[in-house]
Order: sequence, then structure tokens, then C-alpha cells
Amino acid sequence: MCGIIGINSNKPVSATIINSLKKLEYRGYDSAGIATLSSGLINEIKSEGRVDNLEKNSLVQNMEGTIGIGHVRWATHGSPNSINAHPHSSQNVSVVHNGIIENSTLLKNMLVKKGHKFKSQTDTEVIVHLITENLKKENIVNSIKKTLKELQGSFALGIIFKDEPDLIVGARRGSPLAVGYGPNENYLGSDSYALKSMTNKITYLNDGEFCVIKKDHVEFFSEEGNKINKKVLELSNEEEKYDKGDYKHFMAKEIEEQPITLKNGIKEYIDSVNDEINIYNIPWKKNEISSIILIGCGTAYHSCLMAKYWFEELTSLDVNVDIASEFRYRKNRFKKDSLYVFVSQSGETADTYAALDLCKKNDMKTCAVVNVIESSIARDSEFVLPIHCGTEIGVASTKAFLGQILILYILSLKLGVLRGDLEKKALSLKLKHLKELPKLVEQTLLTDNKIQNVSNTFNQAKGSMFLGRGFSYPIALEGALKLKELSYIHAEGYPAGEMKHGPLALIEEGMPVVVLAPRDDYYKKTISNMQEVIARGAKVLLITNKSDDEVVSENIWETIEVESTNQDLLPFLLTIPLQKLAYYSALKKGYDIDKPRNLAKSVTVE
Ligand code: G6P
Repeated sequence: MCGIIGINSNKPVSATIINSLKKLEYRGYDSAGIATLSSGLINEIKSEGRVDNLEKNSLVQNMEGTIGIGHVRWATHGSPNSINAHPHSSQNVSVVHNGIIENSTLLKNMLVKKGHKFKSQTDTEVIVHLITENLKKENIVNSIKKTLKELQGSFALGIIFKDEPDLIVGARRGSPLAVGYGPNENYLGSDSYALKSMTNKITYLNDGEFCVIKKDHVEFFSEEGNKINKKVLELSNEEEKYDKGDYKHFMAKEIEEQPITLKNGIKEYIDSVNDEINIYNIPWKKNEISSIILIGCGTAYHSCLMAKYWFEELTSLDVNVDIASEFRYRKNRFKKDSLYVFVSQSGETADTYAALDLCKKNDMKTCAVVNVIESSIARDSEFVLPIHCGTEIGVASTKAFLGQILILYILSLKLGVLRGDLEKKALSLKLKHLKELPKLVEQTLLTDNKIQNVSNTFNQAKGSMFLGRGFSYPIALEGALKLKELSYIHAEGYPAGEMKHGPLALIEEGMPVVVLAPRDDYYKKTISNMQEVIARGAKVLLITNKSDDEVVSENIWETIEVESTNQDLLPFLLTIPLQKLAYYSALKKGYDIDKPRNLAKSVTVE
């Protein structure tokens, strides 16, 4: 994670760097810093916490310099304080870094022996001293080339030099980095989003490449230090305006925006007139795929788990799901007839990207389900299905989750039809229900007071559990994750049928347990499992769907009813009260809902 910005201009840059850093806070918000060159010196100002703290510093407000670099940090090595904040500088060089230098201890020992003095606990500081050391014997390009060779791990770097008033170096291995072009000024950014307010002309660096950014031109180099030519891409120059409107938090707004997310997805992917699915350009023939492997992290991983149920129900494909950080290091059996689907809101998650890269190196078929269409995962996948939910700011994913599961559901229908597993008539009925879904989500969003009340009990508990079977199990996991992320309450998601194999021992008098038991094929089984936790003292919040049949079960603490639809689509509706439960719990605790502690929106380190 962490965010980088660099500007080489003939106008003062500090205010623009600060504004860009604010946009980059989704990558980390532990600390922030800026360094500029003025009067032949490197000036560096850093502060703990948000960019706002940095901006308030009067020294930043008067900071001079027409060339500079800035950074927002998500701590990996060394606690989140102002000393460990980036940039890190020697007298000659100043560096901002995303990623992790894995051989930093060895390099540090070597540099200390040579007389270098370290100020911080970060891995990044070794880069500063290595460049400083290499500059003693080499010119800039050669010293960078040599330094990069000595580093192990992943990085995106922005570097300025005391003696070079018209030069920023950018370098990439593993962590994404982009160059932007403006009138008499050029930029460096950890992604195009950071640069969008300044330019829509972008070049992405590939792994191993580095660049030298001057005011009037940019030069690119391969890992070996040879000059290379790179394409300038022109991105759409529509910059999305995004504010909280009348909402207290982005998350509250994003929860309420979910009917729009679904409407947009349905409009894009469903041909309502002919009852068909508008996914026509799949680059593989139907008999070239016999299994599908869905890969993601965090909430996106839960989307993959959800999709497994649909793919198994609606297609004859073999389906597997994997956590990207596990997949990338396992001895996978790559098979020619497998389709690998990468699910990611940001499209920049380091582990998911590495899993994609591994599949590409093994010549596999790759498909991305992403929100950010300019992202690395989208750019490098063979086939892309955007979720079109608009910018998601809240660190805890909400509308992107519903967007992801919508597209995965539609993809399962499409592959079901293409393979002859799903008949046209069955498809038409499913599409009819799907088109009604945004309205049902809107109605489910109205359930509010009860959730606010039950959140008090969750807030006072030591821990909680979220149970579900079948289609509801991935939603139980997602509900538990939301509560953990936002309210820092221990929450565990579990398959309801698995409780008796261990977790039942956790249940004690008064423990709040959410049971997801919609009227689907699993209903009766889940209700029995619910009784098993009630019998052991749990306070059960039952979430089911509206039905003419009353729930025949005793001693339920509270019941919340979502709207009713076919069983494929109930997971969409069950998600809503769980998102709200997490939101209200955090709200009552007074926590920072859009930026929970220790987390970041886009995780670009492994
Ligand atoms: C972070 C975010 C989560 C997200 C996960 C995967 O942990 O806080 O909300 O689910 O990354 O992100 P991606 O962008 O790949 O969906």
C-alpha cells in the first residue's frame, strides 16, 4: 500500500502534492510527508496521522520548491510515527517507497559498516543510503540501476536529488507506478487515480523499469539500464466528483447506493428485450473451459466463495476458490482448460496481481472482475468484466461487494447457457427476478431501527458469531469481516453445520450470534443449528426473508426480515442488514468508519 506522488514543474508544487496525497489516502493513512528541492537543499516535512495534519503544519504552507515528492504511509517496518514517515532523506537524496525491501537488514548492516547513520526503523531508509553510496562512483542512471539490482522485494520508488533541480526518478518492481504528462510539467504517481486531477495522459511502468522525469520530457529505462520507448495512453478525462452529500460517512452513502450499483450492472450486462446476457466477446470457446478458479482477497474473496455456489448450481464446471496470498505460493496444477477469474475492487491488490501474473506466466486463461478499469489487474487480464459501481471510498467494501457478486452471478448464468446447462426458459425467469432485485434491495435498506438497537448488544459483547449454510455461508463470513473491520469486535463467520465440531465451545450466556436462515433449501437445517446455539445461551439475531409461514422456533432474541426473492438472489438481500450492523456498531463506538485503524483500501504490499 502507501501512495506516491512526484511533481517536476516550474511552479511551486507543495500545495498540489498535498492535494494529491489527500486522494491517495485510500492507500494508507498512518502518516504523511513531503520533500521539495529549494535553494539547492532538500526540505523534508513529515507528520503522524492524516494528510490534514501535514497540511496544518505552517512550514508546509510556506514550503518552496518546484520539484518534489510526497507519500502517504501504511506502516510495514517501524511504527506509524513521523520519524518513520516518508520521504526518507540523506543530504543528497530523498526517497518515497511503496512495498517491502526483504533484504533490508543485510543491506543496513553493510551500510552501517561503511559509516552510514540511520534515523528510522524502516526498510526504506536503506534505499536512501544505497543510492547515496552508489552516487559516489556512478552517474544518476547507473547508480539507480546498481541500487535496484541490490534490492530484494517489491517497490515503487520516487526519488529526488539535491544536485538535480530538474529530475525525479521513478522505479517499479512489483508495486504499480505511473507517469503523467502535463504542460511544462510531468508527474509520478502510484496509480493513474492519483494523477487524474492533473492529467489524463499516462504511461504505466512495467516490472523492472525505471524512468527519469524532467519538466519537458520523460525517459524510460529497462532493468538493464537501456533506454526504451513506451506508449502514452489517453484515459477518459472525466474526473468523478465524489462527496458525502448529506451522509455522515462515505460508507453510509455507499450502502445506500447499492440499488444504483445493481441497476447499472443489470443495464450493462442484461439485454432486457431479448432476455440475453450481453457478454459476447469471451475470448475462449465453450469447450475450451471445464473448470473455473476464482481468486481474491478480503471481501473480494468472499465474492468468490459466493460465486462458487452459483457456478456449481447453474453450470457443469468444476469450481475452486482461492485466497490470492495462498494461491501464489502453492504448487498449483495448472490445466489448459481452466479459467482463472481474479476479483478485485481496486484491481491493484498485490497478492491478487501476483496470482494473475503467475497464471499468465503459466499460459492460463485469465479474466478480471474489477471496479477500477485502468488498474493493473484489468490491464493485464485477457478478459475484463467491470462492475461499474463508481468510486468506493469507505475502506470496508460494501457496494463493490454487491457489484462483484452481481457480475459473477451474471457470468455463471452466461456460462450455464453457453454450455447448455441452463435452458432459455429458466434463464428468462432468473433474469426477471434479477431485474426486480434493485427494488428489493431498496426496500431492505429501509430496515434500520431494529439494527440500530441490536448493535448495542454487539458493542457490549466480548465476541460474536455469524452463521449460515449454503448460499448464506459466504455472507456470514462477509458479515463477520465487516463487524471486525469497523467496530473492532471479535466476530467469527462459520458454516452453521460445523459449529458442533469445535466453535460451539465458544458459546456462552448472552453471546450475540447472527444466524442467516432465509427460506431456501437449507432453511430447516439452519434453524436446527440455531436451536443448538440458543440451547447454550446465545442471544440469536435471526435474519431471514419475509414469508407467509411464521418462523417456528423459540427463544429467538430478535428477528430481521429482508424482502423475498428466489434463493439465488437472497444473498444480496441478507448482506444489507449485516453491513448496517457493522456501521451502527462502529458509529456508536465513535470509531473512524471510513478509515478503520490499521487498514487501507488498496493493499499493494503482500
Ligand atoms: C483491503 C480492503 C478490503 C478489500 C481487500 C481486497 O483489505 O480493506 O475491503 O476487500 O483489500 O481489495 P480488492 O481491491 O482487491 O478488492
